[in-house]
Amino acid sequence: MTIGQKNSALVLGSSGGLGAAILMELVNDPSIDRVFAVSRSQCPQQLIDGGERGKVVWLQTEYSESAMVEVTKSLAPHSGGFSRVCICHGVLHTDTLKPEKRLEDLNEASLQSVFHSNAVIPGIWLKLLFPILKGSTDCIVAALSARVGSISDNNLGGWYAYRASKAALNMILKTAAIEYGRRVKNVKLIAFHPGTTDTDLSKPFQATVPTGKLFTPSFVAEQLAIIMDTVKMDGTVSFLDWNGQSIDW
Ligand SMILES: NC(=O)c1ccc[n+]([C@@H]2O[C@H](COP(=O)([O-])OP(=O)(O)OC[C@H]3O[C@@H](n4cnc5c(N)ncnc54)[C@H](OP(=O)(O)O)[C@@H]3O)[C@@H](O)[C@H]2O)c1
Repeated sequence: MTIGQKNSALVLGSSGGLGAAILMELVNDPSIDRVFAVSRSQCPQQLIDGGERGKVVWLQTEYSESAMVEVTKSLAPHSGGFSRVCICHGVLHTDTLKPEKRLEDLNEASLQSVFHSNAVIPGIWLKLLFPILKGSTDCIVAALSARVGSISDNNLGGWYAYRASKAALNMILKTAAIEYGRRVKNVKLIAFHPGTTDTDLSKPFQATVPTGKLFTPSFVAEQLAIIMDTVKMDGTVSFLDWNGQSIDW
């Protein structure tokens, strides 16, 4: 960060359950001057009414690559001043798409759409942010992944598109970390598993979650903030859960 430059944070996918909680965690962090929030949705009224608008810069987009380029043009004047980036995109189910229980459920359109939201869009962000994050400010980039994306941890099966897209996201992060480590040394990447959290994404699957294991988004956002504050800047990517514990790739 240069003298007089503001300490900025960025939340990509800021309208989701976790994205919104992470946004508020960053807004409430006194060391952060400004939070850029990127979403398909409009800025929520309560954010405007709550007075956080002065700190939050809301950017609406539809996530085509050209639209994402336009977002990064708005961020470019603040290059080198970002200390926190959270990539929160993730789709598990929609009105027309359910996680697969068996091979016969695999469907070309569903696979493509889940891969697009969960791996392609985060990958394009990592590319576009490359020049914007480069600088002297230590910057932690956390992409919301999932334990089910761990190849070595897969004993249950099912959820082909979601699992495979998160494994692809993890590989994109692993590969990007090598390049960031060489060319943008002030960045640390994290593949973050939030644990089962009470959001729209987990709603249809919450019945089987053991008591005490369904987290609130604000709890997970606080845990992530602690991890980002304490993680070692080692030029690699770490796959960490909500408790800061490593997960096997
Ligand atoms: N909740 C859990 O139990 C749980 C567990 C493990 C991992 N995760 C991961 O945590 C992350 C956040 O999930 P959540 O629980 O907050 O889910 P959510 O409330 O359903 O939020 C969905 C997120 O994905 C984005 N999104 C949705 N459809 C999209 C599309 N077509 N293209 C691009 N972005 C899209 C949304 O961004 P907009 O702001 O643009 O709408 C929002 O950030 C995901 O990566 C998820 O896989 C969640």
